[in-house]
Amino acid sequence: SGAMSKNAERTYIMVKPDGVQRGLVGNIISRFEKRGYQLCGLKMRTASRELLEEHYGDLKSKPFFPGLVNFMMSGPVVSMVWQGKDVVKQGRSMLGETDPLKSKPGSIRGDFCIDMGKNVCHGSDSVDTANEEIKMWFKDDEVMDYKLTAYKDIY
Ligand code: TYD
Repeated sequence: SGAMSKNAERTYIMVKPDGVQRGLVGNIISRFEKRGYQLCGLKMRTASRELLEEHYGDLKSKPFFPGLVNFMMSGPVVSMVWQGKDVVKQGRSMLGETDPLKSKPGSIRGDFCIDMGKNVCHGSDSVDTANEEIKMWFKDDEVMDYKLTAYKDIY
């Protein structure tokens, strides 16, 4: 909505169980940090079936849905909130296409995977979805709102 400044836009990014198990968490965090986005929330957990069915609610009727949910429950995921200018759209672009084989080298999926069912990461597809997903995965007090004062003092 117009009330929130463009700089305060937030998205929900998640490293899926395959990304965690392959040791890609640091690389993915690093890409968002270096791009200039601000980390506002970070946690690790094995998600419940209930949460995943809510998260992927719009895909309930798809043939791949049961496999998707089981895969997502197969180990811990790393949930993140990232903030900054146009972060929802830019985040999707940094992830690549849903199908890793259609993802350009330089994107996370284009660099790290080839299977649609194991595509390493998730990113919200719209500002509205982002706000819903952040609410699903984080409690209000787990999402930080902070100014970059230390950064400004040092540089
Ligand atoms: P979707 O929300 O369409 O894509 P994205 O993750 O890029 O927003 O689908 C959710 C996940 O479901 C997707 O990351 C991988 C899995 N999936 C399949 O396994 N097979 C498919 O044909 C599709 C479309 C998705």
